[in-house]
Amino acid sequence: MKVLIIGANGNTATRVTRRLAESAHDPVAMIRNPSHRAKFDKLGVATVLADLEYPIDHAVQGCDAIIFAAGSGGKTGNDKTVLIDHIGAIRSMVAAQVHGVRRYIMLSSINNDINSQSPIAHYHRAKAHADNHLVETDLDYTIVCPGGLTDEAGTELVSVSAELQGKGLTSRENLAAALVACLDNDNSVGKSFSLLDGDTPLTEALSTV
Ligand SMILES: NC(=O)c1ccc[n+]([C@@H]2O[C@H](COP(=O)([O-])OP(=O)(O)OC[C@H]3O[C@@H](n4cnc5c(N)ncnc54)[C@H](OP(=O)(O)O)[C@@H]3O)[C@@H](O)[C@H]2O)c1
Repeated sequence: MKVLIIGANGNTATRVTRRLAESAHDPVAMIRNPSHRAKFDKLGVATVLADLEYPIDHAVQGCDAIIFAAGSGGKTGNDKTVLIDHIGAIRSMVAAQVHGVRRYIMLSSINNDINSQSPIAHYHRAKAHADNHLVETDLDYTIVCPGGLTDEAGTELVSVSAELQGKGLTSRENLAAALVACLDNDNSVGKSFSLLDGDTPLTEALSTV
């Protein structure tokens, strides 16, 4: 599958892109800064310049799947959270529908809630609105909700649950492995699940979601 990675230069998405470069899939890294191109050239991965605050149709066209791993991050204001994590995400879903991209995998978060009162409620609300929109589309979606992200080595031992509220940690490497594995796992279509570091081999865990 030709797979567009949105937010490809990010910490998790770079790991996703590396894994895809070594897989049977054909990754395309969506970046918004041309200076990031060299990193992907070294991996032998094609790049496309696009920004979620503007139309991204040119990036989506011709792809078979999207992995959305972008995010405004904790250093920008609430306005960017809405523009990227909420509206930008929905923009990418609409582009997928318009251009016939059936498969859509969302890197989300545990504790999303449109009425969140958490210390990062603006983020949890924005992500919840995007996830809720995705569930209402006709896309073949999967929503993967990690806990706090770490740079620990990947173990591919995880814990998954349909319960999306909670706490725990998820290594970005395990998360990247899960996002990529979902592409080849039809059982994950139409599912939302939390993904924490745990004891169950990833493939086995994904077969139970
Ligand atoms: N941090 C946590 O503990 C945590 C917990 C649960 C879920 N999450 C979710 O996991 C996601 C990935 O985390 P991470 O640490 O891997 O993220 P990250 O390193 O902050 O990467 C985010 C990526 O999004 C890109 N981006 C931002 N604005 C964009 C725009 N307008 N258009 C296109 N791309 C844009 C950034 O591009 P540039 O490289 O150009 O800046 C960056 O590459 C987060 O965004 C969050 O939603 C995080």
